[in-house]
Amino acid sequence: MSVKIKTPHEIELMREAGRILALVHENLAKEIKPGMSTLDIDRLGEEMIRSYGCIPSFKNYCGYPASICVSVNEEVVHGIPNAKRILQEGDIVSLDAGVIYKGYHSDAARTVGVGEISEEAKLLIERTRMSFFEGMKKATAGNHLHDISNNIAAYAESFGYGVVRDLVGHGIGTQLHEEPEIPNFRKRTRGLKLRAGMTLAVEPMINIGTHEVLWLDDDWTVISEDLSLSAHYENTILITEGKPELLTLTESEKAAGALNLF
Ligand code: MF3
Ligand code: CO
Repeated sequence: MSVKIKTPHEIELMREAGRILALVHENLAKEIKPGMSTLDIDRLGEEMIRSYGCIPSFKNYCGYPASICVSVNEEVVHGIPNAKRILQEGDIVSLDAGVIYKGYHSDAARTVGVGEISEEAKLLIERTRMSFFEGMKKATAGNHLHDISNNIAAYAESFGYGVVRDLVGHGIGTQLHEEPEIPNFRKRTRGLKLRAGMTLAVEPMINIGTHEVLWLDDDWTVISEDLSLSAHYENTILITEGKPELLTLTESEKAAGALNLF
């Protein structure tokens, strides 16, 4: 049981893994249109990842058959890309991807609308994103892990949303999943003390309705139990003595003020 503190050299490699993944997400989001299949998204995403000289970390991870997890509407995470699943105007689609650059991982997720989407879907996506930044307000050396969890949960629950409990964020580095686990829901314990040099994937998964989820028969796809819409927002971050460094944001996300949200 140990959480690794990354060296400056490891951090440099993770910055590059993060920078590339941010670009992949930015480019992929622009391609999302009604009429395309979820397999089209996986193909495009894998091609982009490889074009940067990286390896898609999800491919064959524990048997997962694709490079991008594509989860539509009530699907929370780990949707399997499929040529027969065609996106419709008004759908929301969660895209989760990971890359390996010189042996170091980054992991990030975004939920995007397909064409015009409902007001309630827009709010869910924006508030899920904001719940991550609420968590970032506590992501500083000397604070504790569950301070992040509690901030995320308090914000999301203030809208009556269900915060998924059966899946959590994680440490990340030479492995996609390292210690510690990072819950997005309220905890009574404080959890481990954060230290500079920890790299974490923080990933709230938020449902409009119940927090309860089910697994489909494919053993991967997670859906909300009440079939309510679900959104996901994830970044790989570096803990420092000050504000955390967000490794998977694009320059345009930063220019749009993302770093002023925490
Ligand atoms: N982003 C997911 C996570 O953080 C990983 C997807 S699991 C995989 O746990 F099998 F699809 F890779
Ligand atoms: Co993750």
